[in-house]
Amino acid sequence: MTVRTVLTWPDRRLLQTAEPVEAVDEPIKTLVADMFETMYAERGVGLAATQLGIPLQVVVLDCGTEDDPQPLALINPNIVERDGEVVWNEGCLSLPGITAEVERAKTVVVEALDEEGRQIRVEASGLTAVCIQHELDHLIGTLYVDRLGKLERLSALSDYDRARAEPPRVAEADVEEAR
Ligand code: NI
Repeated sequence: MTVRTVLTWPDRRLLQTAEPVEAVDEPIKTLVADMFETMYAERGVGLAATQLGIPLQVVVLDCGTEDDPQPLALINPNIVERDGEVVWNEGCLSLPGITAEVERAKTVVVEALDEEGRQIRVEASGLTAVCIQHELDHLIGTLYVDRLGKLERLSALSDYDRARAEPPRVAEADVEEAR
């Protein structure tokens, strides 16, 4: 298994629309394994293949705890039911350093294939429901900030730019030493 590089905004590859997976074969199983490895390494609760620059309809998530992990791979996922409303403070590995409150459906039912190619149907609420909606958005090139109002979106992205512009402390220390 390999930890792969997660793309960050404004990488245009995050805007790609993902294609359905034709067959859950070995390369797809390897991709799923790498995605779990990458998500855990980055301490995320979800990851879409789009975030690795691979425009295929594959997402992984784990909204469990360290003692009770709940890994879930969704291939060619489709939300077939959504109900209620919830506001959740979301973050994204592709937009490190910022979070914002996003309105989502409170519960969802998603149909997909699992990493073995079996048809599954998952009823989700709470963090898992929010995570499923967030990850499926990645598959259509949508980031959570795109779900905000126009001004909120601009404000979140300018906070992000500012966070990115600040040089990391480690790099500063290296510069000092180089002198
Ligand atoms: Ni994300």
